[in-house]
Amino acid sequence: MPARRAQQEDDLISVLVQAEVADEDGTRHVLTDEEILGFAFILLAAGSGTTWKQMGITMLALLEHPEWLARVTDDPTLLRPVIEEALRWQPTDPAFARYVVSDTTLAGVEIPAGAVIHTVFGAANRDPARWDNPDVFDPGRPLQTHLGFGGGRHICLGMHVARTEITTAIAGILQRLPDLRLDPDAPPPKITGMYERGPTAVPVLWDPA
Ligand code: HEM
Repeated sequence: MPARRAQQEDDLISVLVQAEVADEDGTRHVLTDEEILGFAFILLAAGSGTTWKQMGITMLALLEHPEWLARVTDDPTLLRPVIEEALRWQPTDPAFARYVVSDTTLAGVEIPAGAVIHTVFGAANRDPARWDNPDVFDPGRPLQTHLGFGGGRHICLGMHVARTEITTAIAGILQRLPDLRLDPDAPPPKITGMYERGPTAVPVLWDPA
């Protein structure tokens, strides 16, 4: 950071050393070294474990639904609804905690200040009032907003880069590995975990080109 404060380069730290934030009382200040370090840690943690796990979930969903695997192989533009449906059906981050700052009543439930609540985006993504047959992976369903990337002021900062990475990676895999299929002799993949959820392994076979 001291080096970037002395001389800016074409990188994120250089942007951050010049950035200003407003405190709650409106006072503006440039970010301290601790704030920049904290932001870099958040980006590293939030951006590294999530995308590859969500990509694994999406690949597994395709491999378990060969009709969709065939369709996206023929027409990669279908990856968009496939990726969004995988984010709805099995988000890698299905739950996040919130610290309650003031006494609140939510859907008739009284929540005192100081409580910690766990908002389960994964459950909202399967709310039968919003989604028909919510437990079914169906990229053909009408596109609607979901909470796979959260919502509101803390919505995922990296959602567009994550979508781009997953699209690029899966399109590349489908193009380069013909007749990709689950290995029938390997243990069936399982999606596990509450945070950074994903399949532990997705063993596959393909035909050499
Ligand atoms: C498919 C991949 C990803 C998924 C499913 C995902 C999911 C989420 C979710 C659900 C939240 C909301 C957390 C909350 O409400 O407390 C979030 C926040 C965040 N994500 Fe992602 N994320 C992904 C990839 C990334 C990437 C690649 C980056 C960075 C390059 C990133 C950076 C962040 C940051 C910084 C936040 C905090 C935003 C804030 O609190 O204002 N995420 N992400």
